[in-house]
Amino acid sequence: TGVVRRITCVGAGYVGGPTCAMIANKCPHIAVTVVDMNTAKIEEWNSDKLPIFEPGLEEIVKKCRGTNLFFSSDIPKSIREADLIFISVNTPTKMYGKGKGMAPDLKYVESVARSIAEHAGGPKIVVEKSTVPVKAAESILSILRDAQRTNNTLAFQVLSNPEFLAEGTAMKDLANPDRVLIGGEDSEEGKKAVAALVEVYSSWVPRERIITTNTWSSELSKLVANAFLAQRISSINSVSAICEATGADVSEVAHAVGFDSRIGNKFLNASVGFGGSCFQKDVLSLVYLCESLHLNKVAEYWHGVIEINNWQRRRFADQIIAELFNTVAGKKIAVFGFAFKKNTGDTRESSAIHVCKHLLEEEANIAIYDPKVEEKQMRMELGLTTSDDKVDKLVSVFSDPYEAAKDAHAIVVLTEWDEFKTYDYSRIYESMVHPAALFDGRLLFKRKEMESIGFRFFGIGTAPNHLTKVGFAAPS
Ligand code: NAD
Ligand code: UDX
Repeated sequence: TGVVRRITCVGAGYVGGPTCAMIANKCPHIAVTVVDMNTAKIEEWNSDKLPIFEPGLEEIVKKCRGTNLFFSSDIPKSIREADLIFISVNTPTKMYGKGKGMAPDLKYVESVARSIAEHAGGPKIVVEKSTVPVKAAESILSILRDAQRTNNTLAFQVLSNPEFLAEGTAMKDLANPDRVLIGGEDSEEGKKAVAALVEVYSSWVPRERIITTNTWSSELSKLVANAFLAQRISSINSVSAICEATGADVSEVAHAVGFDSRIGNKFLNASVGFGGSCFQKDVLSLVYLCESLHLNKVAEYWHGVIEINNWQRRRFADQIIAELFNTVAGKKIAVFGFAFKKNTGDTRESSAIHVCKHLLEEEANIAIYDPKVEEKQMRMELGLTTSDDKVDKLVSVFSDPYEAAKDAHAIVVLTEWDEFKTYDYSRIYESMVHPAALFDGRLLFKRKEMESIGFRFFGIGTAPNHLTKVGFAAPS
């Protein structure tokens, strides 16, 4: 465990790919190899069309690939040759057995630990990059230490180094992180391993932004950071419902509240609900951890964040149905945006999936447009909760937003893509069935502007004056 010259990253996904591209770019003295059991994905990483879209990623991959950045399917060899190995595999919510629907599934992490035990052949620093529950490092270490019993040339240190990048801004986040967190064992060898990883990041991250802690603090901090972020969104979304009922405007409230420097103005955008592969999974993982520790009150507290999010999605879909005169069957509804946020093609846990599901239950004809998500991906996601026959019959996918909106009764905005703001909405309005409605799930539009075009406008967290309900009346 000395200076790091060769890094292998197991898992060539949204985290492994961009993170290693950044390390290779910033550390020309380190050879970085990214491996994956999905050989098709590795081929894509080696091709002109990368398997994921992130602004700025392609340039760096093209610059470094073949020089000090490699994508390979030879997992044993890459493990053997590395000084330091990132485990960057998926840890999705478990869909079977104990903890189903709550606990993270650690089978992929465990299988990487077993591959490392089998192929290491010498000392390695093993780094948890995946988001894992507290004490996961202990399980990894148990597997690795067992291998040491029969081969005394092996030596392992396990570090926790959770990733905080957000999709769509991954390269910026990696180039200029708020902080890098490294947890390790409080022993001589543990400190050496931490120092080795600190040195890697020091090539571009100011030393004061590299935080070192014990292993368990680091593992827990990742879950807590995501829980706090998700909680902010659920908090402002809960407020959006009050705004809709009273005539307060959620953007004004967020602005006024966020001006308090203790609260801060970031991450207070009310929405149709947070999506993405991390927030729900990680909050549920925290809830499950609390339950396992018999901290039921704490579990309940954090579970509220998920409950509000599900409620917000349902509430938005219900509002669409109600405002379209309680019947959407056979009506064309244009959906603008399917990705879970702008600037990504990722659809995992996207709120669009949930809103579309509710509309499909009501037999609406959904016409989807998203600038980055491919049709087969949309059909795959919708097929998880709605029969393929129904998806085939009711869902159409467009490559032109104007075509998607033509003859529609409503437009439903579910992702905050910048380009949605640039369209000619007068032209769109004219091509629709009247009365035409616009449901803004992302605070993209100004009510007045859209109403002046002719739209019936419904935005999260804003209400037309005639709809506000509460005066001085006591709660009934
Ligand atoms: P991903 O699904 O995009 O990529 C994971 C990859 O690991 C897949 O390509 C899969 O084939 C591969 N894999 C799984 N088991 C393997 C094995 N035994 N050997 C070789 N390859 C294997 O996942 P992701 O979004 O990159 O997330 C990875 C981890 O990082 C998760 O724990 C996640 O919670 C965490 N994380 C994700 C983000 C994000 O924005 N996506 C941000 C921070 C942290
Ligand atoms: C998140 C964390 O931000 C990141 O630090 C962590 O490493 C992984 O999980 P990500 O899921 O990629 O990143 O995107 P993020 O920008 O956090 O957005 C998550 C969801 O919340 C999106 O659906 C987004 O639209 C929504 N969101 C975000 C809101 O609804 N309102 C906001 O104010 C911010």
